[in-house]
Amino acid sequence: MHKRYILSLDQGTTSSRAVLFDSLTGQIAGMKSVPLRQIYPRPGWVEHDASELYSDQLEAMAGALEEAAVGPEQVACIGITNQRETVVVWDKNTGKPVYNAIVWQCRRTSHMCDRLKMKGLAADIKKKTGLVTDAYFSGTKIRWILENVEGAGEKAQKGQLLAGTIDTWLVWNLSGGKAHVTDYSNASRTMLYNIRELKWDEELLRELDIPESMLPVVVPSSGVCACTGYPDGAGKAGGQLDYRERVIKSILDMGIPISGMAGDQHAALFGQACFKQGDAKNTYGTGCFILMNTGKTPVESKNNLLTTIAWGMDNEVEYALEGSVFNAGAAIQWLRDELGIIESAHQGDIEAEQVEDTGGVYVVPAFTGLGAPYWDMYARGTIVGLTRGTNRRHIIRATLEAIAYQSRDVLEAMLKDSEIGLNELKVDGGASASDFLMQFQADLLNIPVLRPVIRETTALGAAYLAGLGAGIWQSREEIARAWNLDRIFTPSEDKDRFHELYLKWKKAVERSMKWEL
Ligand code: G3P
Repeated sequence: MHKRYILSLDQGTTSSRAVLFDSLTGQIAGMKSVPLRQIYPRPGWVEHDASELYSDQLEAMAGALEEAAVGPEQVACIGITNQRETVVVWDKNTGKPVYNAIVWQCRRTSHMCDRLKMKGLAADIKKKTGLVTDAYFSGTKIRWILENVEGAGEKAQKGQLLAGTIDTWLVWNLSGGKAHVTDYSNASRTMLYNIRELKWDEELLRELDIPESMLPVVVPSSGVCACTGYPDGAGKAGGQLDYRERVIKSILDMGIPISGMAGDQHAALFGQACFKQGDAKNTYGTGCFILMNTGKTPVESKNNLLTTIAWGMDNEVEYALEGSVFNAGAAIQWLRDELGIIESAHQGDIEAEQVEDTGGVYVVPAFTGLGAPYWDMYARGTIVGLTRGTNRRHIIRATLEAIAYQSRDVLEAMLKDSEIGLNELKVDGGASASDFLMQFQADLLNIPVLRPVIRETTALGAAYLAGLGAGIWQSREEIARAWNLDRIFTPSEDKDRFHELYLKWKKAVERSMKWEL
């Protein structure tokens, strides 16, 4: 049986997806997405049930194979990509999480970060990890669990607990508890990893009182790091299983290599074939994440961007500059689920185009604070410019436009930092399907916006990393040749109009800042 398929697991903030790629055609053969339950215990706190997340991921995996009518024996390898920074702490012996996964969006450790800043540690943290001191990253979230879950601190000191980002949690479970690993890109998002010396940073671990024994081994983003399997002594019994259960069982029984792993934004950069210095992409997911490849040397940002490891393989790492916007697609979901003024993202697009402009309305969707380049943990969402004539369409349009404005904020900072002119921007992710948004983005940035045929770029990137790691593809050139354009959005001639709109956006952002202080 020819093993021609690569199974990509894309565990995101709002859904667990699995995409099956045919390595011969490069096309998607099957796909399944399972929505992930969000838990908001308090305003500003966000959690996921880690066990539920894993079983959703298994369901998605079986669903993708079912859709493609492909058996597990035809799967050559697995690639994993994940929402980054979100952490799970679990018991080494039972495999049970000691607390819900604390999600990257969660603001509960803002005060802890303030204390680190007050101690004058922010510059050192930036130098070592490339990150700003913010509740976004994993380090303070692990500390919170150790401090607030009864007995956790003590158990951690005794070496009884393990911690990891979602990649680590998935591989641990898929390998039957045999592999406790993460890749360079995910490690670089923890605020505990020294991205220059490529090791967990002893001083930061001491500062947050996190034992190194809890942390995973850092492995290349491409290359076999584990194989699927059941925990010793478990999983062999058959019993009455339905189709999906049988597929899941076979995948776990078969020892399929897991040969690629990267944080979702890094995987998207890879999937967009941004291999050269200065190549950049924007992924419009729950948030918006713009990454620019900066090659083999880390570029230290002077404009509030993050320096991050793009990926690591063949004994070296490559770096990227990143601007993270916390709320993008999440703002469209808010229009649908909380305000109830649209029924679907597609309807939002249609409604936005029914009005000529927003009538002067700006929506700043700072629901969980503002990320790059503002880094204000205390900002909150704001609507300004309402008049008696404002209607729902203006609000919908202003919300969509806010996604593009936030991306421009990041790109301005990126240009100042990198001193490399940006000639074009590649886009992907759910909201990149919106022609309205992509055209507005091109107009606002005044550069062409390029949308590829395969918009599941995150999953594709993980498949490429896994395929390279398993020897299915031999080189990046082969991958770059497979990149196919769907549409170019060309910027409008009317630069001045968009410049003025942008200046007003900056005023609106100011209104949202420091709201919770
Ligand atoms: O840093 C968080 C990011 O990785 C989440 O991505 O696609 O789940 O919005 P997404």
